[in-house]
Amino acid sequence: MSERLEDIAAAMVANGKGLLAADESSGTIKKRFDVIGVESTADSRRDYREMMFRASDAMTKYISGVILYDETIHQKAADGTPLVDIIKASGALPGIKVDAGAKPLAGFPGDTITEGLDGLRERLADYYKLGARFAKWRAVIDIDVAKGVPSATSIGSNAHALARYAALCQEAGIVPIVEPEVLMDGAHDIDICYEISKATLTKLYTELYAARVVLEGTILKPNMVLAGKKSGKVSSPDEVAEKTIKLFRETVPAAIGGIAFLSGGQSDEQATANLNAINAIGPHPWKLTFSYGRALQAAPQKAWSGKAANVAAAQAAFAHRAHMNHLAALGQWQPTLEQAA
Ligand code: 13P
Repeated sequence: MSERLEDIAAAMVANGKGLLAADESSGTIKKRFDVIGVESTADSRRDYREMMFRASDAMTKYISGVILYDETIHQKAADGTPLVDIIKASGALPGIKVDAGAKPLAGFPGDTITEGLDGLRERLADYYKLGARFAKWRAVIDIDVAKGVPSATSIGSNAHALARYAALCQEAGIVPIVEPEVLMDGAHDIDICYEISKATLTKLYTELYAARVVLEGTILKPNMVLAGKKSGKVSSPDEVAEKTIKLFRETVPAAIGGIAFLSGGQSDEQATANLNAINAIGPHPWKLTFSYGRALQAAPQKAWSGKAANVAAAQAAFAHRAHMNHLAALGQWQPTLEQAA
């Protein structure tokens, strides 16, 4: 396929396909494995991810790309095949998480700044050689209105870092996924989420323009607009769709390569229903698909539970969620399809 950035970006969101975010850091995957009673070792992490990448039904039909963690992009399957080659053989693109995580922002308690710019040019060149054609950088914006979180400094610093990252990616021939995640962990209502997301996206695109990033060769990975978990409210798919699209129409240029949402702690079915509702009120100026971690992996993780005998069941669970999200990316999902599983 063409190596032009805009073609890579277009392929990432094409035909109702979406991204599998399998880039959990070793700390995060350990937390996930703790839940299913599996010890997190280099081999167990490899076995688990190999299971998904070899789920050829899911991968060939519904997954356009996989976001990998540094360890995984270097790993080989049990039979010696590089995991990257298994992903490529399915027709999906390998991608790589390149940020070094969100750290406390000095002087702003409760805010974080994502690190990882030092040495990034050299790391991107290495990842390109290993086969990565897109990358991910996640900025984390928490909401705690009473404490003044997020500060304008946090929004500004994170947007600036995202822009520097995106420019370096494009220089290296890699499509940057820009991910300014406004967390859904707080007690805020949906309108506060909308306001903070609006401030975040407005600043992000100002910085991307200033950094001369070619928007056609970028993918936005945003949160949906919804009420915080601790608010005790669950926003309906219709409300999520209406407010998310209103927000994007106000802040996100039509020129970008596409939009691939994070799931952010929504349940599997919520993440699917909301994506579906968003697409059902189209047409929109952008393709809107999924780049889910938890909402694609929770079911297969549970089904797998670290046992080779469960691989086929886990692959079926993964294929089901990927299929449901594929339909949602086309606005063709229905709740009754979940029971057919
Ligand atoms: P979740 O879908 O679990 O939020 O993960 C997506 C991701 O890659 C966050 O950076």
